[in-house]
Amino acid sequence: MAAKSSITFKCTECAYLTPKWLGCCPGCNQWNSFSENSVSATFSLPGKKGSSSSQEHKVVELVSLDSVVTTQQERLVSGIHEWDSVVGGGIMPGSLLVLTGDPGIGKSTLLLHIANSLASHYRVFYFSSEESLEQVKSRAVRIKTMHNNLLFSDQATIESILATCQKSKPDIVIIDSIQNCFFSQTHSFPGTIAQLRETSFALMRLAKENRIAVIITCHITKEGFMAGPKTLEHMVDGVFYLQCEDRWNTRILRSIKNRFGTINELGFFSMTADGMEEVSHINSYLLDESSDAPGAVLMSTLEGSRPLLLEVQALVIPTKFGIPQRVITGLDHKRVILVAAILEKYLHIKFSAHDIFVKIAGGLKMQESSSDLAIALALLSSYFQKPLAPKTIALGELSLTGMIKPVRGAEVSLKEALKFGITNILIAQTQNGSYPTAKRLKNVYQLLEFFPHEEQR
Ligand code: TYD
Ligand code: MG
Repeated sequence: MAAKSSITFKCTECAYLTPKWLGCCPGCNQWNSFSENSVSATFSLPGKKGSSSSQEHKVVELVSLDSVVTTQQERLVSGIHEWDSVVGGGIMPGSLLVLTGDPGIGKSTLLLHIANSLASHYRVFYFSSEESLEQVKSRAVRIKTMHNNLLFSDQATIESILATCQKSKPDIVIIDSIQNCFFSQTHSFPGTIAQLRETSFALMRLAKENRIAVIITCHITKEGFMAGPKTLEHMVDGVFYLQCEDRWNTRILRSIKNRFGTINELGFFSMTADGMEEVSHINSYLLDESSDAPGAVLMSTLEGSRPLLLEVQALVIPTKFGIPQRVITGLDHKRVILVAAILEKYLHIKFSAHDIFVKIAGGLKMQESSSDLAIALALLSSYFQKPLAPKTIALGELSLTGMIKPVRGAEVSLKEALKFGITNILIAQTQNGSYPTAKRLKNVYQLLEFFPHEEQR
């Protein structure tokens, strides 16, 4: 059957198709971005009148999984432990990974360290589409990453990158950044949604067909012309965010998507004058700052498979004017309000006439319900102005009926706490596991036992 030809209009920014020319693209809100696009309409459902017959297409044979031969794939391990563990124990050959984060957060620096370490065992090509080779060299000299096997290019045309890699078949290809790469055939600018999709798709095929691991960087973009990492998330194997959210200026690498590992895995680095350094003992950093003052309680959160020991701090003071304030940072706002309401209901403490300030020390963030017990104790400790025993860790969820419930991952968290000599442990009565030094609690009424000389305000 002859293919039917028709004229459509295609957005040069996001490849949105429309039969009529439009001034503003409904896909990406870009103005004046449509150009004529001649397409051959060859696809139609089989069996319909006038459709192409099924003989035109190749008939595929389906197989059962038993007959599929699998080969053990050896991961590409860099030796930088914080990176290797976040990507799932090394990079899987043939995977396409995205490293993203705000501009200037340290993506290029981290990748240069990783590329340099990988170059000891593998062939690594580094395409710096954003910076000139002199700029890359000055960074490499500064952070002492000058391995001879690590080869660089400032090529930004994706066709040339693909041809080079297909010919030389390196083990790992790094592209910094994808927003500056472009297909010379496409008319849209580098960094637009259409370019980002097309270049990433081509790189995905390069990775899969040649078993080359490809790592691309992508800046997080605010509103505007450039497309960001969200455009890529669905098509790549792994997405890793490099963030800086605490006050020690630690760079946190977090896996958001990983087909070959767990998500929410964390790696810690610190940016120094000589590049990125691994921070393997983050908990000793966090605990160094903990205090025995009223309102401070330790808790633990499980990020991926890694337990973090954090301090919850609360300040409760009588409200001076009008509506009581709730200022909460690093924790879920609603959780803290809920815990305060539970305590008010069962312990008759008038939190509704007090301002409440709660935060996680150091500026880290957590969302889990396992923080309920620590929040409750921090609030009560500040309210009664009495500290808990030094280095007390509390893990438990509060139910609306005032019961204290067990939490997931307590075993790993408490093992980490014991490593740091934290033995004052408060957990739910029904929490699994044997912890000889732990005090087990059933309901919120028992919390008052920790503040013996109660003075009602
Ligand atoms: P960079 O890796 O270029 O960030 P990105 O690729 O995410 O845009 O890092 C840029 C910042 O890091 C810049 O502000 C300088 C700082 N920096 C250091 O503090 N120490 C170093 O050793 C290097 C190389 C950079
Ligand atoms: Mg960079």
